[in-house]
Amino acid sequence: MKRVFSGVKPSGNLTLGNYLGAMRHFVAMQADYECFYSVVDLHALTVPQDPEALRQQAISLAALYLAMGIDPERSTLFMQSQVPAHAELSWLLQCTSYMGELSRMTQYKEKAEGQESVTVGLFTYPALMAADILLYQTDIVPVGEDQKQHVELTRDIAVRFNNRFGETFRVPEPVIPRVGARIMSLSEPTKKMSKSSDSFGDIRLLDEPSVIKKKINRAVTDSEAVVRYDPVAKPGLSNLLVIHALCSGESVAALEERYAGQGYGAVKKGTIEAVVSVLEPIQVRYRELMATDEILDILTAGAIKAQEAAAPTLRQAKQAMGLNV
Ligand code: AMP
Ligand code: TRP
Repeated sequence: MKRVFSGVKPSGNLTLGNYLGAMRHFVAMQADYECFYSVVDLHALTVPQDPEALRQQAISLAALYLAMGIDPERSTLFMQSQVPAHAELSWLLQCTSYMGELSRMTQYKEKAEGQESVTVGLFTYPALMAADILLYQTDIVPVGEDQKQHVELTRDIAVRFNNRFGETFRVPEPVIPRVGARIMSLSEPTKKMSKSSDSFGDIRLLDEPSVIKKKINRAVTDSEAVVRYDPVAKPGLSNLLVIHALCSGESVAALEERYAGQGYGAVKKGTIEAVVSVLEPIQVRYRELMATDEILDILTAGAIKAQEAAAPTLRQAKQAMGLNV
Protein backbone atom coordinates (compact mmCIF):
# COMPACT_ATOMS: atom_id res chain seq x y z
CA MET A 1 0.00 0.00 0.00
CA LYS A 2 1.30 3.46 -0.85
CA ARG A 3 2.21 5.76 2.01
CA VAL A 4 0.85 9.19 2.84
CA PHE A 5 2.41 11.70 5.23
CA SER A 6 1.19 15.14 6.22
CA GLY A 7 1.38 17.50 9.16
CA VAL A 8 -0.29 20.55 10.62
CA LYS A 9 1.31 23.05 12.98
CA PRO A 10 -0.35 23.50 16.40
CA SER A 11 0.05 27.24 16.19
CA GLY A 12 -3.32 28.44 17.39
CA ASN A 13 -6.77 28.27 15.97
CA LEU A 14 -7.08 26.16 12.87
CA THR A 15 -9.13 27.64 10.07
CA LEU A 16 -11.58 26.38 7.51
CA GLY A 17 -8.68 26.80 5.04
CA ASN A 18 -6.69 24.12 6.87
CA TYR A 19 -9.70 21.82 6.73
CA LEU A 20 -10.79 22.35 3.12
CA GLY A 21 -7.26 22.63 1.70
CA ALA A 22 -5.68 19.75 3.57
CA MET A 23 -7.23 17.91 6.51
CA ARG A 24 -10.43 16.85 4.77
CA HIS A 25 -8.28 14.97 2.28
CA PHE A 26 -6.29 13.33 5.08
CA VAL A 27 -9.51 11.70 6.23
CA ALA A 28 -10.50 10.53 2.74
CA MET A 29 -7.05 9.08 1.99
CA GLN A 30 -7.26 6.62 4.87
CA ALA A 31 -9.37 4.34 2.67
CA ASP A 32 -6.64 3.79 0.08
CA TYR A 33 -3.30 4.45 1.73
CA GLU A 34 -1.19 3.74 4.78
CA CYS A 35 -1.30 7.17 6.44
CA PHE A 36 0.93 8.99 8.90
CA TYR A 37 -0.41 12.27 10.28
CA SER A 38 1.49 14.46 12.67
CA VAL A 39 0.98 17.37 15.02
CA VAL A 40 4.19 19.11 13.95
CA ASP A 41 4.96 20.88 17.19
CA LEU A 42 8.67 21.26 16.43
CA HIS A 43 7.65 23.40 13.45
CA ALA A 44 5.60 25.64 15.74
CA LEU A 45 8.77 26.57 17.65
CA THR A 46 10.14 28.50 14.66
CA VAL A 47 8.19 31.54 15.90
CA PRO A 48 7.77 32.57 19.56
CA GLN A 49 5.21 30.47 21.48
CA ASP A 50 3.91 30.58 25.01
CA PRO A 51 5.00 27.16 26.36
CA GLU A 52 1.79 26.33 28.21
CA ALA A 53 -0.38 27.49 25.32
CA LEU A 54 1.67 25.40 22.86
CA ARG A 55 1.20 22.28 24.98
CA GLN A 56 -2.58 22.83 24.98
CA GLN A 57 -2.77 23.65 21.28
CA ALA A 58 -0.95 20.45 20.39
CA ILE A 59 -3.46 18.32 22.33
CA SER A 60 -6.31 20.31 20.87
CA LEU A 61 -5.04 19.71 17.33
CA ALA A 62 -4.74 15.98 18.00
CA ALA A 63 -8.38 16.02 19.18
CA LEU A 64 -9.41 17.86 16.02
CA TYR A 65 -7.70 15.29 13.81
CA LEU A 66 -9.69 12.57 15.61
CA ALA A 67 -12.93 14.57 15.56
CA MET A 68 -12.64 14.99 11.78
CA GLY A 69 -12.39 11.26 11.31
CA ILE A 70 -8.72 10.29 11.51
CA ASP A 71 -9.00 6.73 12.79
CA PRO A 72 -6.05 5.73 15.00
CA GLU A 73 -6.71 2.05 14.21
CA ARG A 74 -6.05 2.72 10.53
CA SER A 75 -3.65 5.68 10.56
CA THR A 76 -0.67 6.61 12.69
CA LEU A 77 -1.43 9.86 14.52
CA PHE A 78 1.46 11.26 16.53
CA MET A 79 3.22 14.28 17.92
CA GLN A 80 6.40 15.15 16.04
CA SER A 81 8.42 15.98 19.17
CA GLN A 82 7.71 12.51 20.60
CA VAL A 83 9.54 10.84 17.71
CA PRO A 84 13.20 11.88 17.98
CA ALA A 85 14.01 10.59 14.49
CA HIS A 86 12.52 13.81 13.02
CA ALA A 87 14.98 16.15 14.71
CA GLU A 88 17.83 13.74 14.01
CA LEU A 89 17.23 13.32 10.27
CA SER A 90 16.57 17.04 10.02
CA TRP A 91 20.19 17.72 11.02
CA LEU A 92 21.50 15.34 8.38
CA LEU A 93 19.35 17.05 5.77
CA GLN A 94 20.39 20.53 6.87
CA CYS A 95 23.92 19.42 6.09
CA THR A 96 22.91 18.47 2.55
CA SER A 97 20.75 21.58 1.84
CA TYR A 98 22.05 24.91 0.66
CA MET A 99 21.57 28.46 1.89
CA GLY A 100 20.60 29.46 -1.66
CA GLU A 101 17.70 27.06 -2.04
CA LEU A 102 16.33 27.73 1.44
CA SER A 103 16.57 31.49 0.80
CA ARG A 104 14.23 31.06 -2.16
CA MET A 105 11.35 29.67 -0.08
CA THR A 106 8.50 32.15 -0.35
CA GLN A 107 7.04 31.26 3.04
CA TYR A 108 10.36 32.14 4.67
CA LYS A 109 10.59 35.40 2.76
CA GLU A 110 7.03 36.36 3.71
CA LYS A 111 7.42 35.47 7.36
CA ALA A 112 10.84 37.12 7.69
CA GLU A 113 9.87 40.31 5.90
CA GLY A 114 9.72 43.33 8.15
CA GLN A 115 10.78 41.35 11.27
CA GLU A 116 13.54 42.78 13.38
CA SER A 117 14.96 39.32 13.98
CA VAL A 118 14.09 35.80 12.85
CA THR A 119 15.20 32.48 14.29
CA VAL A 120 17.59 30.13 12.51
CA GLY A 121 14.79 27.55 12.83
CA LEU A 122 12.45 29.61 10.66
CA PHE A 123 15.11 29.47 7.95
CA THR A 124 15.93 25.76 8.21
CA TYR A 125 12.26 24.71 8.68
CA PRO A 126 11.99 23.14 5.18
CA ALA A 127 14.79 20.69 6.06
CA LEU A 128 12.74 19.55 9.07
CA MET A 129 9.69 19.21 6.85
CA ALA A 130 11.75 17.15 4.39
CA ALA A 131 12.82 14.90 7.27
CA ASP A 132 9.17 14.42 8.31
CA ILE A 133 8.27 13.24 4.84
CA LEU A 134 11.37 11.23 3.89
CA LEU A 135 11.57 9.26 7.15
CA TYR A 136 8.46 7.28 6.19
CA GLN A 137 9.37 6.50 2.55
CA THR A 138 6.32 8.58 1.69
CA ASP A 139 4.72 8.37 -1.75
CA ILE A 140 2.12 11.12 -1.40
CA VAL A 141 1.95 14.39 0.56
CA PRO A 142 -1.49 16.05 0.64
CA VAL A 143 -1.09 19.79 1.27
CA GLY A 144 -2.60 23.15 0.38
CA GLU A 145 -1.07 25.28 -2.35
CA ASP A 146 1.21 27.21 0.03
CA GLN A 147 3.20 24.07 0.90
CA LYS A 148 3.85 22.90 -2.65
CA GLN A 149 7.22 24.63 -2.83
CA HIS A 150 8.37 22.89 0.35
CA VAL A 151 7.40 19.47 -1.01
CA GLU A 152 9.25 20.24 -4.23
CA LEU A 153 12.34 21.15 -2.21
CA THR A 154 11.91 17.85 -0.35
CA ARG A 155 12.04 16.06 -3.70
CA ASP A 156 15.23 17.90 -4.64
CA ILE A 157 16.83 17.05 -1.30
CA ALA A 158 15.87 13.36 -1.69
CA VAL A 159 17.17 13.05 -5.25
CA ARG A 160 20.43 14.77 -4.38
CA PHE A 161 20.95 12.59 -1.29
CA ASN A 162 20.24 9.42 -3.27
CA ASN A 163 22.69 10.43 -6.00
CA ARG A 164 25.42 11.31 -3.58
CA PHE A 165 25.06 8.61 -0.91
CA GLY A 166 23.13 5.82 -2.63
CA GLU A 167 19.42 5.02 -2.86
CA THR A 168 17.97 5.92 0.56
CA PHE A 169 14.75 7.90 0.20
CA ARG A 170 11.62 7.46 -1.87
CA VAL A 171 10.91 10.66 -3.83
CA PRO A 172 7.44 11.92 -2.76
CA GLU A 173 4.72 13.64 -4.81
CA PRO A 174 2.69 16.58 -3.54
CA VAL A 175 -1.08 16.25 -3.97
CA ILE A 176 -2.86 19.60 -4.12
CA PRO A 177 -6.66 19.69 -4.29
CA ARG A 178 -8.13 20.87 -7.59
CA VAL A 179 -10.67 23.06 -5.78
CA GLY A 180 -9.96 24.66 -2.40
CA ALA A 181 -6.14 24.55 -2.43
CA ARG A 182 -6.16 28.19 -1.42
CA ILE A 183 -9.16 29.34 0.60
CA MET A 184 -9.08 33.12 0.80
CA SER A 185 -9.70 35.54 3.66
CA LEU A 186 -13.32 36.66 3.97
CA SER A 187 -12.32 40.24 4.66
CA GLU A 188 -9.41 40.49 2.19
CA PRO A 189 -10.24 37.92 -0.49
CA THR A 190 -7.00 38.43 -2.39
CA LYS A 191 -5.04 37.03 0.58
CA LYS A 192 -5.11 33.47 1.85
CA MET A 193 -7.22 32.67 4.89
CA SER A 194 -4.78 32.16 7.74
CA LYS A 195 -4.70 31.82 11.48
CA SER A 196 -3.23 35.25 11.83
CA SER A 197 -5.58 37.22 9.62
CA ASP A 198 -7.93 39.67 11.32
CA SER A 199 -10.79 38.24 13.30
CA PHE A 200 -13.43 38.57 10.58
CA GLY A 201 -11.22 37.19 7.83
CA ASP A 202 -11.01 33.59 8.96
CA ILE A 203 -13.49 30.97 10.03
CA ARG A 204 -11.98 28.93 12.83
CA LEU A 205 -12.85 25.29 13.09
CA LEU A 206 -14.10 25.83 16.64
CA ASP A 207 -16.15 28.96 15.91
CA GLU A 208 -19.72 28.78 17.22
CA PRO A 209 -22.43 28.74 14.50
CA SER A 210 -23.47 32.28 15.50
CA VAL A 211 -19.90 33.50 14.93
CA ILE A 212 -19.68 31.72 11.58
CA LYS A 213 -22.91 33.44 10.57
CA LYS A 214 -21.62 36.86 11.55
CA LYS A 215 -18.31 36.39 9.70
CA ILE A 216 -19.88 35.14 6.47
CA ASN A 217 -22.49 37.88 6.51
CA ARG A 218 -19.69 40.42 6.75
CA ALA A 219 -17.64 38.82 3.97
CA VAL A 220 -16.41 41.30 1.37
CA THR A 221 -18.00 40.81 -2.09
CA ASP A 222 -18.42 43.25 -5.00
CA SER A 223 -21.07 45.62 -6.29
CA GLU A 224 -21.97 43.83 -9.52
CA ALA A 225 -24.62 41.64 -7.85
CA VAL A 226 -24.33 38.86 -10.42
CA VAL A 227 -23.61 35.35 -9.15
CA ARG A 228 -20.70 34.18 -11.27
CA TYR A 229 -17.46 32.36 -10.42
CA ASP A 230 -14.62 34.68 -11.43
CA PRO A 231 -11.74 34.69 -8.94
CA VAL A 232 -9.98 37.61 -10.63
CA ALA A 233 -12.86 40.06 -10.99
CA LYS A 234 -14.97 38.72 -8.10
CA PRO A 235 -12.56 37.18 -5.56
CA GLY A 236 -14.87 37.49 -2.54
CA LEU A 237 -17.95 35.93 -4.10
CA SER A 238 -15.85 33.24 -5.82
CA ASN A 239 -14.29 32.29 -2.50
CA LEU A 240 -17.76 31.94 -0.94
CA LEU A 241 -18.85 29.74 -3.84
CA VAL A 242 -15.83 27.48 -3.37
CA ILE A 243 -16.40 27.22 0.38
CA HIS A 244 -20.10 26.51 -0.15
CA ALA A 245 -19.40 23.92 -2.86
CA LEU A 246 -16.84 22.01 -0.82
CA CYS A 247 -19.00 22.02 2.31
CA SER A 248 -22.25 21.01 0.60
CA GLY A 249 -20.63 18.56 -1.81
CA GLU A 250 -21.88 20.35 -4.93
CA SER A 251 -19.98 21.80 -7.86
CA VAL A 252 -19.38 25.52 -8.24
CA ALA A 253 -21.22 25.37 -11.59
CA ALA A 254 -24.31 23.85 -9.93
CA LEU A 255 -24.30 26.66 -7.37
CA GLU A 256 -23.97 29.34 -10.08
CA GLU A 257 -27.09 27.91 -11.62
CA ARG A 258 -29.01 27.58 -8.37
CA TYR A 259 -28.31 31.17 -7.30
CA ALA A 260 -28.65 32.75 -10.75
CA GLY A 261 -30.74 35.90 -10.50
CA GLN A 262 -30.61 35.92 -6.70
CA GLY A 263 -28.70 38.38 -4.53
CA TYR A 264 -25.49 37.73 -2.62
CA GLY A 265 -27.58 37.41 0.55
CA ALA A 266 -28.90 34.09 -0.69
CA VAL A 267 -25.36 32.83 -1.45
CA LYS A 268 -24.22 33.87 2.02
CA LYS A 269 -27.17 32.15 3.67
CA GLY A 270 -26.47 28.93 1.77
CA THR A 271 -22.76 29.15 2.60
CA ILE A 272 -23.49 29.60 6.31
CA GLU A 273 -25.72 26.51 6.33
CA ALA A 274 -23.17 24.43 4.44
CA VAL A 275 -20.25 25.43 6.69
CA VAL A 276 -22.22 24.90 9.92
CA SER A 277 -23.39 21.48 8.75
CA VAL A 278 -19.74 20.41 8.29
CA LEU A 279 -18.24 22.01 11.38
CA GLU A 280 -20.93 21.39 13.98
CA PRO A 281 -20.53 17.59 14.14
CA ILE A 282 -16.73 17.98 14.29
CA GLN A 283 -17.12 20.39 17.21
CA VAL A 284 -19.41 17.99 19.09
CA ARG A 285 -16.92 15.11 18.76
CA TYR A 286 -14.05 17.45 19.63
CA ARG A 287 -15.68 18.43 22.92
CA GLU A 288 -16.37 14.80 23.79
CA LEU A 289 -12.75 13.82 23.11
CA MET A 290 -11.31 16.73 25.06
CA ALA A 291 -13.28 15.57 28.12
CA THR A 292 -11.39 12.24 28.23
CA ASP A 293 -7.75 11.12 28.52
CA GLU A 294 -8.08 8.98 25.42
CA ILE A 295 -6.05 11.39 23.28
CA LEU A 296 -2.88 10.97 25.33
CA ASP A 297 -3.02 7.18 24.99
CA ILE A 298 -3.61 7.43 21.25
CA LEU A 299 -0.62 9.76 20.87
CA THR A 300 1.65 7.50 22.93
CA ALA A 301 0.74 4.50 20.79
CA GLY A 302 1.13 6.59 17.62
CA ALA A 303 4.61 7.75 18.62
CA ILE A 304 5.74 4.16 19.14
CA LYS A 305 4.41 3.11 15.74
CA ALA A 306 5.94 6.15 14.03
CA GLN A 307 9.34 5.63 15.65
CA GLU A 308 9.35 1.99 14.51
CA ALA A 309 8.42 2.97 10.97
CA ALA A 310 11.05 5.74 10.86
CA ALA A 311 13.98 3.85 12.42
CA PRO A 312 15.22 1.84 9.39
CA THR A 313 15.37 4.92 7.13
CA LEU A 314 17.14 7.02 9.74
CA ARG A 315 19.68 4.26 10.28
CA GLN A 316 20.27 3.88 6.56
CA ALA A 317 20.72 7.64 6.09
CA LYS A 318 23.23 7.85 8.96
CA GLN A 319 25.18 4.90 7.66
CA ALA A 320 25.18 6.29 4.12
CA MET A 321 26.63 9.59 5.35
CA GLY A 322 29.46 7.90 7.20
CA LEU A 323 28.23 7.85 10.77
CA ASN A 324 28.90 4.81 12.94
CA VAL A 325 25.51 3.23 13.54
P1 AMP B 1 -0.41 24.96 8.71
O1 AMP B 1 -1.55 25.45 9.50
O2 AMP B 1 0.43 26.05 8.14
O3 AMP B 1 0.38 23.89 9.41
O4 AMP B 1 -1.05 24.27 7.44
C1 AMP B 1 -1.61 22.96 7.46
C2 AMP B 1 -2.16 22.61 6.09
O5 AMP B 1 -3.28 23.45 5.76
C3 AMP B 1 -1.15 22.80 4.95
O6 AMP B 1 -1.25 21.70 4.05
C4 AMP B 1 -1.58 24.08 4.29
O7 AMP B 1 -1.24 24.13 2.93
C5 AMP B 1 -3.11 24.03 4.47
N1 AMP B 1 -3.71 25.39 4.46
C6 AMP B 1 -3.48 26.38 5.34
N2 AMP B 1 -4.18 27.50 5.03
C7 AMP B 1 -4.88 27.19 3.89
C8 AMP B 1 -5.80 27.93 3.05
N3 AMP B 1 -6.14 29.19 3.33
N4 AMP B 1 -6.32 27.29 1.98
C9 AMP B 1 -5.99 26.00 1.69
N5 AMP B 1 -5.13 25.26 2.44
C10 AMP B 1 -4.58 25.84 3.53
N1 TRP C 1 5.03 23.12 6.89
C1 TRP C 1 3.66 22.68 6.89
C2 TRP C 1 2.73 23.90 7.06
O1 TRP C 1 3.12 24.92 7.53
C3 TRP C 1 3.39 21.70 7.99
C4 TRP C 1 4.23 20.48 7.80
C5 TRP C 1 5.34 20.15 8.51
C6 TRP C 1 4.04 19.46 6.83
N2 TRP C 1 5.84 18.97 8.09
C7 TRP C 1 5.08 18.51 7.05
C8 TRP C 1 3.11 19.25 5.82
C9 TRP C 1 5.21 17.38 6.25
C10 TRP C 1 3.25 18.11 5.01
C11 TRP C 1 4.30 17.18 5.24
O2 TRP C 1 1.60 23.80 6.72
